[in-house]
Amino acid sequence: MNRRIARAAGLTLVAAGTWYAALQAQEARSVWDGVYTETQAQRGAALFDRECANCHGPSGAGGSMAPALVGPAFSANYDGQTVGDLYERNRSSMPVGREGQLSAQQNVDITAFMLQVSKFPVGTSELPPQTMLLKQIKYVVDDPRTPNQGDRPAGTHQDNTPGTEWIKRLERPERIPGLKTDAVIALLHLKPGDVIADIGAGTGAYTIPFAKAVAPAGQALAVDIWPELLGYIQEKATTAGLDNVRTILAARDDPRLQPARVDVAFFHDVFHNMNDREGYVRRLAGYLKPEGRIAIIEQEFDDPIARKWDRPEDRITKEQVRAWMAHVGFQLVAEFDIFQGTHNPQGAGMPERWFVVYGRAAHSSQ
Ligand code: HEC
Repeated sequence: MNRRIARAAGLTLVAAGTWYAALQAQEARSVWDGVYTETQAQRGAALFDRECANCHGPSGAGGSMAPALVGPAFSANYDGQTVGDLYERNRSSMPVGREGQLSAQQNVDITAFMLQVSKFPVGTSELPPQTMLLKQIKYVVDDPRTPNQGDRPAGTHQDNTPGTEWIKRLERPERIPGLKTDAVIALLHLKPGDVIADIGAGTGAYTIPFAKAVAPAGQALAVDIWPELLGYIQEKATTAGLDNVRTILAARDDPRLQPARVDVAFFHDVFHNMNDREGYVRRLAGYLKPEGRIAIIEQEFDDPIARKWDRPEDRITKEQVRAWMAHVGFQLVAEFDIFQGTHNPQGAGMPERWFVVYGRAAHSSQ
């Protein structure tokens, strides 16, 4: 049943049953159903550039004057609402200083562009410039057609935030001291010859110092799911004159390493992003040397910053990690508190974190 035909024909001419079916179909629609077109999003992009980007940053990545219009914090605000609500927000209160001055068509085109930036799929009909119709399109972060596929939805760390955006977020200068790379290297007893896999390496803030610590014979493997980030790390390594950094494009559920190769698998603020955490440990175990270790630094479950960015199911506790590890035959070999409490530099914008190291029960001396 083609809704456009129904509308053109006029509802009075359409049998009540058919009309009801059309309404049902409409009610069931969500942002996952391809509700805008590429052309519409392009028109929206040009408008966004002109009207919104000066405050919200290019493609709504966020600026110093206004919040990001993409990513977990943003999409959480609209999850469960409708495209109409987002459209109304734009129409009634934006652009700040010139509120309500854009036409309905301009606003809906911008809204289409915002859906595209959040990686909701493109379709074959445009979003209509009518609030009532837009309110029938659900804004849902989870793709309702693929429940329990193990893929994390848009709005989590494995969402479709482009790698270039991650570079900006992860390279904030105030973030770097909070990583305490020297202390981490010392506590992990990294030494020349070791192979360390920095999983979810991001911009390589740890990879590069790791590479220096294990040089010349050792290797730092930069593992990530974003090619842009790996390219960035490779550039950094070249600039630093390091030839022992290897970049590895991982799958979401598999770091794709070589069997029994790694001395330390390292995760900083990354492990909670895995879909099937225990399954990940199981797979990882195959890449570790017999005496290999898994080091995990994770945000405190109830830290306010963690709560802001990640939903409860996207955060993890030390106890959960202990259970997953135990099922795969790993036990705690060390725990450090360098990312706790007053040790944390103020204003780094990072949550409090715990730091645990696991090893195979059979090889653990402690
Ligand atoms: C002069 C700066 C400025 C401009 C230009 C501007 N915004 Fe905003 N926008 C803000 C600020 C500041 C906020 C946060 C305060 C608020 O919610 O009103 C905001 C909030 C928003 C929100 C709510 C975000 C959320 O998390 O719910 C949306 C949506 C939005 N803007 C869309 C737009 C769009 C679309 C445009 C262009 C048509 C635009 N803005 C232009 C400053 C601006």
